[in-house]
Amino acid sequence: MLNEKIAKLINEQINKELYSAYLYLDFANYYADAGLDGFAHWYEIQAREESDHALMMRRYLIDNGLRVTFDAIAKPDKKFADNIAPLKAGLEHEQYVTSLINTIYGEAFAIKDFKTMQFLDWFIKEQGEEEKNAEDLLKKMEVFGTDSKGLYALNQELAARVYTPSQTGPQT
Ligand code: FEO
Repeated sequence: MLNEKIAKLINEQINKELYSAYLYLDFANYYADAGLDGFAHWYEIQAREESDHALMMRRYLIDNGLRVTFDAIAKPDKKFADNIAPLKAGLEHEQYVTSLINTIYGEAFAIKDFKTMQFLDWFIKEQGEEEKNAEDLLKKMEVFGTDSKGLYALNQELAARVYTPSQTGPQT
């Protein structure tokens, strides 16, 4: 049985991950409207990954005999002044999510909940990758995105992103 506080934090994190999916779909909406379909595609895949994260956490709670409960998902309401603004918001959001995962990890560490620490190891690594991806994308946009040819090429590059599903179903 999981510690009550840990279970509550993971249940809350499901909501944050689903919000992340919603947020990134909103970024995709912005880019689709701006005619940057490669950027939109990149964020559509990002949203699918976030949904996977939520499903992995839901599965972890279920596999530990817990009843998962859902809250309302907040409305993504960011307004973007230009094409680079969602990328900056995306990096900030990932840094925030890293802090949330670290908090849960810290709680698990404090009570020697090794099983949850092992479960969260995947997310710690994933957050490192997601922050790096967001930083790289932002840098590329700063270097190449200010010129229309560079923006076109970057849009083409992002259109090639491929979705790789995470393990979201029963683990046994
Ligand atoms: Fe599920 Fe981008 O963190």
